[in-house]
Amino acid sequence: TETPLKQLFQEDFKIGAAVNPRTIVSQEALLARHFNSITAENEMKFASVHPEEEVYTFEEADLLAAFARKHGMALRGHTLVWHNQTTDWIFRDRKGDSVNREVLLERVRAHIHTVVGRYKGDIYAWDVVNEAIADEGAELLRSSRWLDIAGPDFIAKAFEFAHEADPDALLFYNDYNESHPQKRDKIYALVKSLLDRDIPIHGIGLQAHWNLYDPALEDIRAAIEKYASLGLQLQLTELDISVFRFDDKRTDLKEPTPDMLETQAERYEAVFRLLKEYRNEITAVTFWGAADDYTWLDDFPVRGRKNWPFLFDAEHRPKPAYDRIAAL
Ligand code: XIL
Repeated sequence: TETPLKQLFQEDFKIGAAVNPRTIVSQEALLARHFNSITAENEMKFASVHPEEEVYTFEEADLLAAFARKHGMALRGHTLVWHNQTTDWIFRDRKGDSVNREVLLERVRAHIHTVVGRYKGDIYAWDVVNEAIADEGAELLRSSRWLDIAGPDFIAKAFEFAHEADPDALLFYNDYNESHPQKRDKIYALVKSLLDRDIPIHGIGLQAHWNLYDPALEDIRAAIEKYASLGLQLQLTELDISVFRFDDKRTDLKEPTPDMLETQAERYEAVFRLLKEYRNEITAVTFWGAADDYTWLDDFPVRGRKNWPFLFDAEHRPKPAYDRIAAL
């Protein structure tokens, strides 16, 4: 049978997968064989672990942490401050009015201390702030309750709180469209401003939700170069290579076409060839899943459209893309 991915890239970077309480059962053998790192797909997000101010729910997150320990895998933490999957209570008082900056920052400090503190020694790297940059336009930051209430330095505060809670954890800023030139420059500017102020940040997470056609390889290379020039480590945190263009609305395809699989194989080969060139800068490559039987892309951005973004098929057999990167 095929060589484990983690062995193929052992001199280069960790090989991770996003998992959830169902896939650690249905994909256990595949995960154990090929991956040496996991990320919780949803189970460590704010809404999952902290549904009410006085209530923390760590059962599912603990289950995934135990799975990592059982298999000797590294564990990434995802995520502490985000505009999505965050329960509204943190922004509101009992009457439903917005809290002020001081209250919000005190609440997020308590959240970060509790969550990061719980997994101290288990989680080696945290996505502290996720997707805070605006995709379009001149604005640096996306509009959000965080920005409205606390102002732009909610970002710096989150990193400081995380560093207090676990001084040994590597702290990442994580975002998507990370290879688009405009957004790349904004991510660079944000992270540089944090470094210039001595805020504890150690890495940039490139989500890497890509497809067969976009982004161009040269844009990926330019993004890696630019981020690496800050002297931080880089990780691909959520890699998947969709077989559809982002705006493709077809929902009728039951199987990937041979053409798609071949183009995907070429694309994965080119991507991993590039990543290996930057093996000194890139410390981990995490897929947002493991095999084609389950991917969030089955529902995003088009509901009910099956996708086949990974190196392993729905039966956990290696796809042409696996063979090509195994031959690198
Ligand atoms: C996704 C999960 O995969 C889905 O199950 C959930 O419904 C929505 O979130 N960027 C991120 C991830 O940082 O947390 C997202 O995960 C995918 C996009």
